[in-house]
Order: sequence, then structure tokens, then C-alpha cells
Amino acid sequence: CGIVAIVGRTPVAPLIVDALKRLEYRGYDSAGVATIEDGKLARRRAEGKLVNLESRLKHEPLSGTIGIGHTRWATHGVPNETNAHPHFSGGVAVVHNGIIENFAELRDELAADGYEFTSQTDTEVVAHLVARELARGAAPIEAAHAALKRLQGAFALAVMFKDEEGLIVGARNGPPLAVGHGEGEMFLGSDAIALAPFTNSITYLEDGDWAVVRHGGVSIFDIDGNAVERRRQQSLGTSYLVDKGNHRHFMEKEIHEQPEVISHTLAHYLDFAGGATKKLDMPFDFAAIDRLAISACGTAYLAGLIGKYWFERYARLPVDIDIASEFRYREMPLSPRDAALFISQSGETADTLASLRYCRKAGMTIGAVVNVRESTIARESDVVLPTLAGPEIGVASTKAFTCQLSVLASLAVRAASARGTVSAEEEKALVRALSETPRYTNQVLQKVERQIEKLARELSHYKHVLYLGRDTNYPLAMEGALKLKEISYIHAEGYAAGELKHGPIALIDETMPVIVIAPHDRIFEKTVSNMQEVAARGGRIILITDEKGAANATVETMDTIILPDVPEIISPIVYALPIQLLAYYTAVFMGTDVDQPRNLAKSVTVE
Ligand code: G6P
Repeated sequence: CGIVAIVGRTPVAPLIVDALKRLEYRGYDSAGVATIEDGKLARRRAEGKLVNLESRLKHEPLSGTIGIGHTRWATHGVPNETNAHPHFSGGVAVVHNGIIENFAELRDELAADGYEFTSQTDTEVVAHLVARELARGAAPIEAAHAALKRLQGAFALAVMFKDEEGLIVGARNGPPLAVGHGEGEMFLGSDAIALAPFTNSITYLEDGDWAVVRHGGVSIFDIDGNAVERRRQQSLGTSYLVDKGNHRHFMEKEIHEQPEVISHTLAHYLDFAGGATKKLDMPFDFAAIDRLAISACGTAYLAGLIGKYWFERYARLPVDIDIASEFRYREMPLSPRDAALFISQSGETADTLASLRYCRKAGMTIGAVVNVRESTIARESDVVLPTLAGPEIGVASTKAFTCQLSVLASLAVRAASARGTVSAEEEKALVRALSETPRYTNQVLQKVERQIEKLARELSHYKHVLYLGRDTNYPLAMEGALKLKEISYIHAEGYAAGELKHGPIALIDETMPVIVIAPHDRIFEKTVSNMQEVAARGGRIILITDEKGAANATVETMDTIILPDVPEIISPIVYALPIQLLAYYTAVFMGTDVDQPRNLAKSVTVE
């Protein structure tokens, strides 16, 4: 979810909606805004995307110079209007991001006290708790503080009071919350970008902080009520243009930006002219560690999985890789001698952040590959390894993924050089190979896009798809399947090609196309055998390969997509493009909401 609050001078409802638009990546199940209109709390809420709230406000505008707003990714309660925020109770209005873990206990207690619940959300307990404190005679700030002390879980909150037209209380325990400083007006937002059109003077709340926000400024306290100082800083996140250019969807635009952003990212890590990796300012020495623990979620996790192949192959550095939500519960032995690497486009994913803090407690050194430099994960790391992908708006990650791969490949070469597992000559050759990535990705876009568009029309008639690959193309097969299911809702699985015979082969028939990612590499022949196994059972194959692979495949295919012959290290980056395009065009033919697929959010700040 995303939250915004403004203690303003002019009518705030349109400003809040504008800010919520920039937070829609955090969820778009429903949205709402509340203000104080003629001394009363007033609100408009709507199910679904923000445009619904916007049209609601067009017909029923809200006045008022103070307000709070919310865009939701449902946790407790279905995404209907009743469950949409803000929630009200006795002159108190609340918006919330996160989960109140002890909400059942609080709800029972409040219900016993006569408070009526109108929604299925966990948020409503916060409104009632604050209202109960007010009813017991507490002043607004005191009431909010008392309520905060009762809450367990992860939350960012903004609370507004009917009788205080110049006060909002914000709180953070987990999900991020930024205070924006204006001229005689103040702001709260889930990130600095939401506030960018209003101000770039930002103070980030830390976990456990709560803030009293008034027209003239902010005072920040810890949970015991002691005043704390938090640095005010200039935000880097200037109000970027949320603009699709000539593209139909952000996803299409972002796929096409890849040659450029991969080039920017690689140039940050590699000295192309010198043929070497740049010496990074690292808090740990790749030569001195015994293991690297990587964790991440979703597409970022799959990037990490490919990274593991590279670190182990080139740098002989053992890598443990985990889905972040599994990592901290599986009780693996951790050593302060080892380093941990977290990968996250947004830098806000709750599971990834929780794993980071878990490693921090174990005394490990922490690196983060993030796209948003001011994010919580970036701020809590010892070293930030940026992906220079620029803002990624499409919910299904594309350019952030290939930039994550670019960083990981560069780091693996760096580690190899530090550990002496490659010679200077070999390092030079790897850097040269990486420097060719922008050129090859560009070629792919020019060469195969129309062919893939045609193929997608056919693929959109199927209900199930299997993706196969070996080596780094195995995680890539999983990414291909993930992309396809995320945006086209076609059921897809990604498997290691060698694993086909151990189960999924039972599914093979002419109704389940099998997409095989197989460049002509040292294990190509093995994959050919797997394709034979598919063909022998009447399966239909779509082969993504290079010229040599196409010439040696020896199976009949439904379609063969031929990519340029590329060096091994950059193959997963180059081969990522056709699978992205295939998912994209299939979704376009299916008529789904490509940039904001159902049930998903770009940044998930709950565990
Ligand atoms: C969400 C998105 C995925 C993304 C994952 C991790 O589930 O829908 O596309 O891969 O979060 O996000 P992060 O920002 O940590 O990379």
C-alpha cells in the first residue's frame, strides 16, 4: 500500500490523488482520500484503480486543506469500497500500510468496549484505539501515542483528527515513511518520489519513530516519547516523468530501454577501455570471504540464482541463495566472516528487508543491489551496488532484472579477479564480452520482435506452458514462466531441462507448448535429448537458440527464435529479452492489464 498526507494551504484532495498516482506501484486494489470539510471528516473511496477514485472526485469533489490518502494492496479483507482506506472512528481518520499483527486481540477488546467494526481490515482497530483514547479525555497527540504503543506488527500510519485542522500524526515501524518539508505546508508519503512535485527536502522516519506534523514543521519522537533528531536531506528522486512516450505500455517502453540502461549499469562497474572491473569501494574483500549468501524475492531472486552460477563458476566463491521469506526461518548457520547480498528493485520488499536485518544481527557484512538508491534496503546496507535502470513502472520487472544481472556478472568478474581465479587476460575477455551486451540486446529487439509478436498470438490460445533450460538458462526458464503467468495469467512452469523426465513429462501433449531456451553451448546436446523426449510424446516445441543451435536441434519446432551468437557470460541477459517480449505480446493479445496485472503490486511491503 501507499500513503500520503498533507497539512496544506490550498485544497489538498487533488494533490493527494496526484501523489497517490506515483505510489500506485505499491498496490491498486482500491484507493481513498479524506479531508476535513467544514469541520467534519469527509472521504471518497473507490474499488479498483485510482482512476475510479479520480472520477468519483470529479462528481463529488472534496474541499479542505488537510488530508490523507491511500492506495491499497489488500491483506485483510477483500478489495471493496468498505475495506478501502481511510478508516474513521469518532473524529479520527487513519491510513495504514502494513499489517497489525495483534489486530484480532485488539478488535475483541474494542468490540467489548462497544466499538463497531464496519470493515474486515486490520487498520480499523487503529482508528478505534485512537478514538477511545480521545473519548477517555486524551489530547490528540497523546491519544495517537497511546494507541501506537499498543500496536504490534509492521506499519506506516497517518492519523488525522476532525478537531485539529493543522495536525497529522505519522508513524513508522517497518514500511517506509518520508516527511516532506514545504513552505508553510508539510507532507508525509511512502516514498520521496510521491512527494517530489511538492518538495525535495525530505526527512526519513526510522523504525519506531512517530512524527507530529503541522504547517510549520515536524517533531519526531521515539516510542517512549523522547524527541529524536532525524537528518533532513535533499531527495535525489526528482519528480520523474511518468510518461509512456510512444509506447502502448510502460512494460513495452521498459523492454526497449534495456540496451541503454544495461550500458549505463555496466559502465558503473567496468572499465571498458582498460578491460578490467573497476575497484569498488567494498566493505568486504571478495578474497577474504568463504561464502556469499544471496536473498531476494520474485524476479530479483531469479537474478540472484543466475548470479550464483557466475560467482561459483568464475570466482569459485560458494553462494547460498534463498527466497527471502524462507531465508530467515530456515536456521542456516551464518558467519560474521561471510557477506550477504540482497537484490531488490524497489529496496522496500518486506521479506528481503527482514532477511537483511537478520544477517545484520549475525554480524555479516551487507551489500545491496537496488534500483532505488534512497530505499530502506539501500540505507541499511554497508554498500549499495546500484542498478541504473531508472524508474521501473510496469509491475512485471524487465529492465531492472537485466540490470541486476549486469551488476551480478560484473561483481562475479570482480570477485574472480580478487580471488585470483581468472588471469588478467581472462578478466579482459570477460569484460569485453560484457561490454557487447548493449549491442546484442539491441540486435535482439530489432531482429525478433515481430516474429515473437506473431508467435504470441498463437501462444495466447493455450492454457499451460512449460519453459525449460539448463545452467543459467534454468533460472531464466523460471523467469520466463513467471513473466508469462504474471501478466497473461497463462499457467506456466519453469524447469531444469534435465528434470523434465522426473515429473513434468507426464503433462506433455499437444495442448502444452514447451519453450526451450538453449543457445549452442557445451550442454546443448543434452538439451536436444530433452527436446526429443518432448517431441516423442507429441509435445510442441518453441526453441530459443542461436544459428548453430537451430542447425543442430534435430527436432521439429512450432517456432524457432534465432538470436545472435553471444559469449557465454552474457547469454542470460540477451536471452531475457525474447522471454519478456513473448510474455508482453501474449498479454496484449489476451487483453489483460499489462502494466498493472491483477492481484500483484510492484513493491510488497508486508511479509
Ligand atoms: C513483487 C513484484 C515482483 C518483484 C518482487 C520483488 O512481487 O511484483 O515483480 O520481483 O516484488 O521486488 P523487489 O522490489 O524487491 O525487486
